[in-house]
Order: sequence, then structure tokens, then C-alpha cells
Amino acid sequence: MRSATMAAAVLAAGLALSAYSARAAGELNVICSADPAVCELMKGLFEQQSDITVNMVRLSAGETYAKIRAEARNPKTDIWWAGTGDPHLQAAAEVLTEEYKSPLFDQLQDWAKKQAEAANYRTVGVYAGALGWGYNTELLAKKGLKEPKCWDDLLDPSYKGEIQIANPNSSGTSYNTLATLVQLKGEDGAFEYLKKLNANISQYTKSGSAPVKAAARGEATIGIVFMHDAVAQTVEGFPIKVVAPCEGTGYEIGSMSIVKGAKNMENAKKWYDWALSAEAQSHMKDAKSYQLPSNKSAEVPKEAPKFEDIKLIDYNFALFGDPDVRKHLLSRWDEEIGSQAN
Ligand code: F6P
Repeated sequence: MRSATMAAAVLAAGLALSAYSARAAGELNVICSADPAVCELMKGLFEQQSDITVNMVRLSAGETYAKIRAEARNPKTDIWWAGTGDPHLQAAAEVLTEEYKSPLFDQLQDWAKKQAEAANYRTVGVYAGALGWGYNTELLAKKGLKEPKCWDDLLDPSYKGEIQIANPNSSGTSYNTLATLVQLKGEDGAFEYLKKLNANISQYTKSGSAPVKAAARGEATIGIVFMHDAVAQTVEGFPIKVVAPCEGTGYEIGSMSIVKGAKNMENAKKWYDWALSAEAQSHMKDAKSYQLPSNKSAEVPKEAPKFEDIKLIDYNFALFGDPDVRKHLLSRWDEEIGSQAN
């Protein structure tokens, strides 16, 4: 059903979108750091409109950053689409990505433009999403657990073994969570919190949305994820309730970057311009991807969590997008949390 809807969307878009349909042969190597369903949708739409063959892999944002770094001398990737903005900024700071200002730049929301300006146009915002969690209402009721409304509620010993979160080395979601906790509690306070939380974690997953997928299947009770990933499970019909933490929460500027020295540079720019278009971004919801789009004219999915209803922190993108800050926080996480994990 889901793939039939997506196939219809690909077909409809192929017929409707003529503005980006200039035919150009060749290939494009894309790393997609969003949900596999929307990665496939974007690949299909772009191939149909451009005649460019897209070779795509899905990797979490932290994994992609590591791969692009490792391949800097001989890049195998042309474009990195989606994934949390922090590692895109880290890659930009290390000049692993190419400076490019799209002709569509003026169509973007201010937060997407700021992301680009902060990185000398070595990245750009494609969507935004807020952190929170989803819990399985049936499991919660069955186990007689209280609804977790606040970050601090998650430390309650009654949730022992009930929570999943991703590993911040691989996952952009989890790095964004770590940075959020540091901003809410100070660095030492955040690590104290994470040590206590560790007692309740059943698994540190590789990808950021896996925890709420596990909650949907009944393999965990609570998954700490971006709220839009929890919404996707509710829309799929699973008993998942979405929570915006009471103390306030962080958010991502999901981003896109062209890899420095990309072998298929012209095609990478074609993807880049297309992926910033209102038409392309309006299709993301067809794959149950409910972030806020960065093009001002893109359709905002009605299911997207409303930023005005969420207590958002003033997330410090410059600080947490710094490669040295990343290195420091992750080595501390490995030492104090990862080494203690089950
Ligand atoms: O599933 C979509 C999503 O949450 C994006 O909004 C986000 O940029 C990406 O996944 C992060 O994935 P990961 O945590 O696996 O790096």
C-alpha cells in the first residue's frame, strides 16, 4: 500500500514537474541520511526527471561524516542529502564539502539560509525537525507505567530496560540529543543524566529512528527520536504517542552538501537545485517523512509536529557543529556511557 502510494507519487511527479526536467545523462552517487522510504522516493523522482542514474546508499549522519572524511582524497560520493545539520557543519568546517549557492537560495526559510551562511555555502538546510520521543501506549498501559512527559521522567527506575536511543557516534539524531542535553543541563549535568539513563536503555541502535520503530513493534516501550519519526509510526497505525519534552528540546536543521571534488559535479548541482525546490520537498510526505520543508512554498505536511507548540531551546549550531566539540563529546560518551552499555 505504502509503496503503491509512493510509486503513484513518483509517476505523478514525473508528469507534472517540467521545470527540472532538462535531460542529462550520467550518474550520481548519493548518500541519503533520511529514512530509507524517502531516500527511495527521492531517487525515483530525480531519475525520472533527469535521466541521471542515481546510485544511492542509506547511512546515518555520523557514519556518512566518517565515510566522507575517510574518502577525502578520492571521493566516491557526489552528494550527501539529508541527515542532521551538525555533521554537515563539521564536514564544512573541515572543507570536505563544496561551496555552492543554489539559484533557489532565496526561496528558502531563514533557518535554512543561516545554515548555509554559517558554513560559507558548504551546506544548506533542507528540513527541520524537533527531538522528543514516542512511546507504545499499549505496552505502557500493560506494564502499568506512567506517561513520560519530561526528560527527567525517563530516569525513573520503573523504565528499566524499556527505552531505546541510538548511538551518537553513528546517529545524527543521537548526537543532536547529546548536544541538546548539554545545552539543557551543562556538560557535566548531561553526562550525569546519561549515566542514569543508561540503566533504563535496552539498546543503543545504529540509526536514529530505529528506537521508535522498535517501540511500534512492541520490542521497546519508549524510543527517543525526532518527533516526526514517531509521528510516522502513528500514521502507519501503530499505538505510538508522540511527546515533546516538558523542559524544552533541541532540533535539527536537516542539511545537504556536495562533496568536495565530486566526480559528477554537474549532476550533483542538478540534484542540489532540484532537492531545494518546492515541488521535490512537497513530495517527502508521500513517504511519511514529516519534517518541516526548507522551501517556503513547499507544502507543510499536516502531520508535521508544530514548532510553535514545542518548547524549543536556542540550539547552538555553531558550537555543536564544530569538529573539535564533536570529537570531545563523543570520546567522553564512549568513555563514560558506551563502555558501560549492555
Ligand atoms: O528518519 C529521518 C531522520 O530522523 C531525519 O530527520 C534525520 O536527519 C535523520 O533521520 C537522522 O538519522 P540518523 O540519526 O540515523 O543519523
